[in-house]
Amino acid sequence: MVRIQPLSDVAGASVQGLDLHEALHADQQQMLADALHRFGFIVIKHQSLAPADLVRFARRWGRPSPHVIDTFHHPEDPNILILSNVHKDGRPTGLVDAGTYFHSDYSYLEEPARCTILHAIDVPPAPNGTTFAQQAHAYADLPASIRGKISDLVVRHHYGNRDDLDQRSRTVASVLNEEQTQRVHWVRHPLVRPHPWTGEPALYAVSGSAFSIEGLPDEEGLALLRDLAAHATQARYCHTHHYENGDVIVWDNALLLHSAPLVDLSRPRTLWRVTVLYPFMG
Ligand SMILES: [Fe+2]
Repeated sequence: MVRIQPLSDVAGASVQGLDLHEALHADQQQMLADALHRFGFIVIKHQSLAPADLVRFARRWGRPSPHVIDTFHHPEDPNILILSNVHKDGRPTGLVDAGTYFHSDYSYLEEPARCTILHAIDVPPAPNGTTFAQQAHAYADLPASIRGKISDLVVRHHYGNRDDLDQRSRTVASVLNEEQTQRVHWVRHPLVRPHPWTGEPALYAVSGSAFSIEGLPDEEGLALLRDLAAHATQARYCHTHHYENGDVIVWDNALLLHSAPLVDLSRPRTLWRVTVLYPFMG
């Protein structure tokens, strides 16, 4: 029997009793989708998946989309990005630091990510987790006057961490090579976005790739984005999930911001990641 239990009052639920080697029934998938939209992220425990299993599961959510950093795609399937601090034959086997600041995945693309899926292959004991911040609650708690002021604003996004552009820092966005840089452009997204399934409004990607606001002077727009990010990432909106080997986590990029941990380089840590765009609707 499948059991879904909340992990905190803020966000997250654990899912026990599923084996993702097997194709999910439609009602099981619906149950997971409902849990994702309610809790923001779900952790399906005790899995041991081959690359093909993970990508098949990802396709149940939408369209897997390989990361712009193609250096560490899994050799068996480019939809999987390897996150790892392990070296083999003197060479890195994966991306070490990925998004150690609050952001929403692919908010720098015209088509943002519906969800991100991570499979913990070999992780050290806690603390090792990703921190999630619930953006619908953060929006709902804003004074009505501020909600009214920001509800129709449009934000300009670009790949990067707007609060740290120093390429030698570990909290910069993962550095792109020249060819990868050519592939990212300025895009625009609403500041307040209704959830594609539930319709619940949430602040969208106010940290990370959000650099300015259309119709406002750059300084003023940036200051507003920074104020909103400070509000939206307060401890009362946050929950950190510490991974265990075998976890398969799915998070909703419309509902949550997230920040990856600064990895302890002395403790081996490997996860596989698939980022999923929305399914074609209609
Ligand atoms: Fe991320």
